[in-house]
Amino acid sequence: MLNGKRILLIVAGGIAAFKCHDLIRRLRGQGAHVRCVLTEAGARFVTPLSLQALSEDKVYTDMFSLTDESEMGHIELSREADLLVVAPATANILARMAAGMADDLAATVLLATDKPVLAAPAMNVRMWTHAATVANVETLKKRGVTFVGPNDGAMACNEYGPGRMSEPAEIVTAIDAMLATTGSLTGKRALVTSGPTREALDPVRYISNHSSGKQGHAIAAALAKLGADVTLVSGPVSVADPFGVKVVKIDSADQMLAACLAAGAVDVAVCAAAVADWKAAKPADAKIKKKAGAPPPALELTPNPDILATLSQPGPQRPRLVVGFAAETENLVANAVDKRTRKGCDWIVANDVSPATGTFGGERNTVHLVTGEGVEEWPTLAKDEVAVRLANRIAGQFGPPRSIKAAE
Ligand code: CTP
Repeated sequence: MLNGKRILLIVAGGIAAFKCHDLIRRLRGQGAHVRCVLTEAGARFVTPLSLQALSEDKVYTDMFSLTDESEMGHIELSREADLLVVAPATANILARMAAGMADDLAATVLLATDKPVLAAPAMNVRMWTHAATVANVETLKKRGVTFVGPNDGAMACNEYGPGRMSEPAEIVTAIDAMLATTGSLTGKRALVTSGPTREALDPVRYISNHSSGKQGHAIAAALAKLGADVTLVSGPVSVADPFGVKVVKIDSADQMLAACLAAGAVDVAVCAAAVADWKAAKPADAKIKKKAGAPPPALELTPNPDILATLSQPGPQRPRLVVGFAAETENLVANAVDKRTRKGCDWIVANDVSPATGTFGGERNTVHLVTGEGVEEWPTLAKDEVAVRLANRIAGQFGPPRSIKAAE
């Protein structure tokens, strides 16, 4: 995918700098040339020697090195790259970029470049949410800098929240997407649903399920990577928004249906969401209170709209291809075959969600693809790989295939 592409990797000073080793290895594994610029603070976390060994190229650190300047001037460094990646992008380097400073080699290269720039922020959660950083990121986005992450999670400083640098595989996916100009789904519109829905019982309680959104989000990302214009309608999840995808966040099944219909005509719809089948018939406006001696309240439920069945209805608006999922705990294939007919969709991706399989919330998935032609048994794969395989199959329905590989 990245064969022959030249990436200038700017490593700033954060604990996440250690992930650059894996990032370089992955980029080179995809055929890219990687050249590194290491800031003074970055060199406190990783050594020039390790970056040099992995990139098999000289590492640039000093703006005033005569040898460096005579070999490759700072203007030249950015000119010869296809893409600049700042990882980790610390609060400090983002501030310097936003202010247009040129006080070290990294900042100067970033100021001198006319190439696309991708930043992978990494910092303490309070630094990330500080008004100064928020404003700097806004400014940089307006100037065309692309961001990947940060992710939520436990941090080196014993805190929890957004600020963790994206994983190297996610950064590679973002780089792929930035450098891929055409794909076999270019010009096609895709709609993907993902995650659970939440059905309110009262303002503080709801019914929901264990869906993590990992599979649906990975499918949205894989379709976008193939060039599709993707709208992802997602219930509440903690996975990051996929790169290059329009994300519409909703809570309930009714909202999910409304968002799907509002997305307009699409060529392909993939319903991976675990939509709650029922909602409270009369959600309370105020918190339902316990009353001494009274029996627990009875829960009256009413069916939710079936989004997949609605999108599958014949008519001029029907997507050319509608793909549903079947989450089953028994009789997987028979139930999925039946579900395909019942819902009127073209394909069903059937997955066993029994607790023992670890599918809900896990990283891997074992699926069967049920089409009009029959049932295909797929091997157990990472959810990203299931997504890529499905996206390639979808692309095959729309034109000559140009397959993508999952980021390793
Ligand atoms: N689905 C939907 N809207 C609903 C329920 C399900 O769009 N109200 C979609 C899911 O996104 C999935 C497919 O329908 O693509 C099947 O979901 P699943 O939960 O497996 O099936 P159910 O419709 O709940 O059927 P059953 O109760 O028979 O398992």
